[in-house]
Amino acid sequence: LKAGLIADIATADTLDALEALRVGAIGKNGVVTALLKTLGSMSPEERLEQGPPIQDLRESVTAALAERKAALEQAALDARLSSERIDMTLPADPGPQGSVHPVSQVMDELAEIFADLGFSVATGPEIEDDWHNFSALNIPETHPARAMHDTFYFPDAADGRKMLLRTHTSPVQIRTMTATPPPIRIIAPGRVYRSDSDATHTPMFHQIEGLVIDKGITLGHLKWTLETFLKAFFERDDIVLRLRPSYFPFTEPSVEVDVGYTLTNGQRVIGGDGDAPGGGWLEVLGSGMVNRRVIASCGLDPDEWQGFAFGTGVDRLAMLKYGMNDLRAFFDGDLRWLRHYGFSA
Ligand code: PHE
Repeated sequence: LKAGLIADIATADTLDALEALRVGAIGKNGVVTALLKTLGSMSPEERLEQGPPIQDLRESVTAALAERKAALEQAALDARLSSERIDMTLPADPGPQGSVHPVSQVMDELAEIFADLGFSVATGPEIEDDWHNFSALNIPETHPARAMHDTFYFPDAADGRKMLLRTHTSPVQIRTMTATPPPIRIIAPGRVYRSDSDATHTPMFHQIEGLVIDKGITLGHLKWTLETFLKAFFERDDIVLRLRPSYFPFTEPSVEVDVGYTLTNGQRVIGGDGDAPGGGWLEVLGSGMVNRRVIASCGLDPDEWQGFAFGTGVDRLAMLKYGMNDLRAFFDGDLRWLRHYGFSA
């Protein structure tokens, strides 16, 4: 009996099989248990004779069960460890992928286009003082752009300066002219703030400023530069510009620039003569020759140095290029919107 039980236990190949053997041997109704029970009805002499081998049987079986159980458990652990080993050579799971926001993408594009034309990138603070944002740009105290409903003001600085969130990127013109000697050829992209909100206005939006200061600069240079930039940006050779006389305190003369759009398959597409049937004009930027008074307020001699400046809304350019219709959606962070325009994986 003993040899048979021990052999069965040693060859049990699963924990379940081993448990069945344990129940069959030393369980409540097991064969070994039954033998142990017979001891109770024996005479003392019989018990003395038969007891030890039966006890020995029970101990051997119990030890064999424990040994086999440990071996099977170790085998199961080894199997699990080897199946769960991490294979460092497998390609990683593709995580959720982000993308560059359309506004950032357009700013990068613009910086690249202007880099090819020899412009470098300048920056200025978003929290400005009213001298850089207004006075130095020939915007008098009484100008409507200074009214509270347009400008976000801060409490005055300790030195008495009126502080505000810049309402345009034009103060970077001043910061550049007062910091670096001409010739100057810069663009200044960045955030600007106005207290305004509807489908085409958000309280924060993005502009890109351009400034050229050199000798003998004319309106012709301005027109060529804008034409070259808009052709590159809209990726079309047939961009037609319309220059309209306008007014900005910091440019004289001032020019507002429209681009023509035409109807192509019932869609308005930038490019072509806006006066063609079904076509029209879209205002894309403000510009002009830098006002002599602005050049002088930066400590330069306006008889020696001239230049042009322009400013345009980056968000608006992005809307025109990608056919978006609500400016506010730019800043909602809604992935479905980004995906719809092909901006998110
Ligand atoms: N700063 C003007 C605006 O915000 C745009 C502009 C810039 C116009 C430079 C002329 C020259 O509307």
